[in-house]
Amino acid sequence: MNSIDFLRGARYYLKMARSRLSSRDDLYPTDYLFRFLIEKNLVPFPQGSDEGFDEYRDLLYEHYDHGPFWSSIHPEDERLLYNVSAAFKSRSAFIAGSYYGYFAIWAMKGIAERGGTCTLSDVNPRVCDLARENFSRLGFGDHTRVCCEDAVSLFSKRKEPIDLLLLDAVGAWNDPRPEYRGKVIYYPILQGAIPLLEKGSVVVMHNMRPNYFPQLIDLLESIGGVGLCCDSHNGLGLYVIS
Ligand SMILES: C[S@@+](CC[C@H](N)C(=O)[O-])C[C@H]1O[C@@H](n2cnc3c(N)ncnc32)[C@H](O)[C@@H]1O
Repeated sequence: MNSIDFLRGARYYLKMARSRLSSRDDLYPTDYLFRFLIEKNLVPFPQGSDEGFDEYRDLLYEHYDHGPFWSSIHPEDERLLYNVSAAFKSRSAFIAGSYYGYFAIWAMKGIAERGGTCTLSDVNPRVCDLARENFSRLGFGDHTRVCCEDAVSLFSKRKEPIDLLLLDAVGAWNDPRPEYRGKVIYYPILQGAIPLLEKGSVVVMHNMRPNYFPQLIDLLESIGGVGLCCDSHNGLGLYVIS
C-alpha cells in the first residue's frame, strides 16, 4: 500500500466513524429518513435501493478527481443521494451549489440509466470545470448540464419540472443581499424552485439539523413537503412534496 492509498483509507474510515454520530435510534441517517417516509407511503420504489451501491462507490473512490478541493461529503451523504435517486427513480435533478460535483455524482448512476438529466449549478467557474471534467470522464456527460450560474436565476429561465432538488449552496458572507449569505441562501433557492416542483418531487438538504432553520421547513411544509431533518454529523434532510 502506498502512502496515497493509506491516506485515502484513513480518510474513509474516519468519515465512516463520524457518519454514525448522533443518528436516531442507532439507525444510519438514510435508514432513519427512509423509514419515516416509507411509513407515510411516500417512497415509490423502496426495495433494493442500495443495490449496486458498493460497486459504484468503489468506482468513484478510485476515479473521482478532487483536484485541489476538499469535500465535506461523507459516506452516509453518498448513500442517501444514491438511494434517493434509486427509490424515487429521479430523471430530472437540480443541484444548487454543486461545488465540484462530488455530492451530485452519487445520484448519477440511476439518472443516466433512466436517460435523465442532472443540472449542476455553481457560481464558481473553477469548481464547475472540475465537475464537468469528472462527469464526462465517468460517462455522464450526455446526462449533465453544468451551469456556472446562480441557481435562482437558472430557475427563472427553466420550464422543465425538477423531481430531485439538492440544496447544498453556501452564499458568500459579504453578499450584499443578507438572505443570500451562508446557508440562509437555501430559502431564496427553494422559493425560486417552487414553480418547478411537483407532487412526488424530492428535496434533499445538506447541513440542515432539526430546528436549525425553521423558516425553511415552514416553506417546505407550505407546499406539501413531508419529511425530516436528521441530527447526524452533516444534518441530512429529506422531504417529499405530497
Ligand atoms: C462549499 S459548496 C458545498 C460543499 C459540499 N457540501 C461538499 O463538501 O461537497 C457550496 C457551493 O455553493 C456555491 N454557491 C454559492 N452561491 C450560489 C448560488 N447562488 N447558486 C449556486 N451555487 C452557489 C459556492 O460557489 C460553493 O461552491
